[in-house]
Amino acid sequence: MEEKIKELRAAIEQAGAAVTNEAELSAFWQQFLSKNGAVAGLTKSLRDVPKEERPAVGKTINEFKNWAEAQYQALSAQVERAALAARNAAETVDITLPAQKRPNGSLHPITLVKNEIVDVFSGMGFEIYEGPEIEDDDHNFTRLNVPKNHPARDMQDTFYVAEDIVLRTHTSPGQIRVMDSEKPPIKVLVPGRVFRSDSDATHSPMFHQMEGLVVDKGITLCDLQGMLDEFVQALFGEGVKTRLRPSYFPFTEPSVEVDVSCFECGGKGCPLCKHTGWIEVLGGGIVHHNVLANCGIDPKVYSGLAFGIGIERIAMLKYGINNIGLMFENDLRFLKQFED
Ligand code: DAH
Repeated sequence: MEEKIKELRAAIEQAGAAVTNEAELSAFWQQFLSKNGAVAGLTKSLRDVPKEERPAVGKTINEFKNWAEAQYQALSAQVERAALAARNAAETVDITLPAQKRPNGSLHPITLVKNEIVDVFSGMGFEIYEGPEIEDDDHNFTRLNVPKNHPARDMQDTFYVAEDIVLRTHTSPGQIRVMDSEKPPIKVLVPGRVFRSDSDATHSPMFHQMEGLVVDKGITLCDLQGMLDEFVQALFGEGVKTRLRPSYFPFTEPSVEVDVSCFECGGKGCPLCKHTGWIEVLGGGIVHHNVLANCGIDPKVYSGLAFGIGIERIAMLKYGINNIGLMFENDLRFLKQFED
């Protein structure tokens, strides 16, 4: 038996030295340590050993078996380490390679124009206020001097959420909210989304406006035109001029439609300005005394100016976009043109 164990030990050492991978490790286990392997064979041959010697020989065999198993464990750990090292080598990253370029995002044209407008008016001391998109009839119409059944409500195709609750049709209700919470002097811009049941090449059911409101003592149309001159020159270029035309809005009196001299042809007449030399850009006026009074501001002491700018309209003019739908499709071929 001693002899047999000695031979087997030598065989295991020799075979073990040759094991380099998973498959060879498994063959090693099969040959020596499985149920029918050589080590189990030793235990079976214990039958042939004289009875009185069996305890001592059994002990030797057991010790040998433990040794053989320890050999296997050591080999197994070694194979695992080698496999890991091979994988690490294969997966090495060359950190000197140039990095893959990630596409940069960019601001949407509406955001670009909105930021530009905010910049210009902030420079004149305006603060920003944002009101709710779901408004009540009172703020959206009534207190802006548009009483129930007033025909001016037909100017705005309104989405109703519930009776007397609407998706705001303009940012003008922001004027009421500001005047409710602040005392003059007031100088605010109210940017935001507005909603109307209207859709064609130049109208979208959702679009953006920027309301302006100034309330103080002695505010006149001259203040309005002066501020708007600065605004259009910042957006369309130094040389452009504004022109005020009489118009009608229930919340202003007098009301004006503001045109800018055509920045494409310089006023000579071209397809953009429909050969008139002028392009309509926004509406405004002197805040109606009823609106001031509706907000607890004495119209005999204070006066105000207001204006409403359609942001999409400005963006379309500035960038030469002919269909408002392009603004909301989010087609990357369109949006990429506005990257810095
Ligand atoms: N709220 C008007 C609209 O959506 C735009 C407007 C016109 C706003 C005159 C004003 C204003 O503040 O004074 O058509």
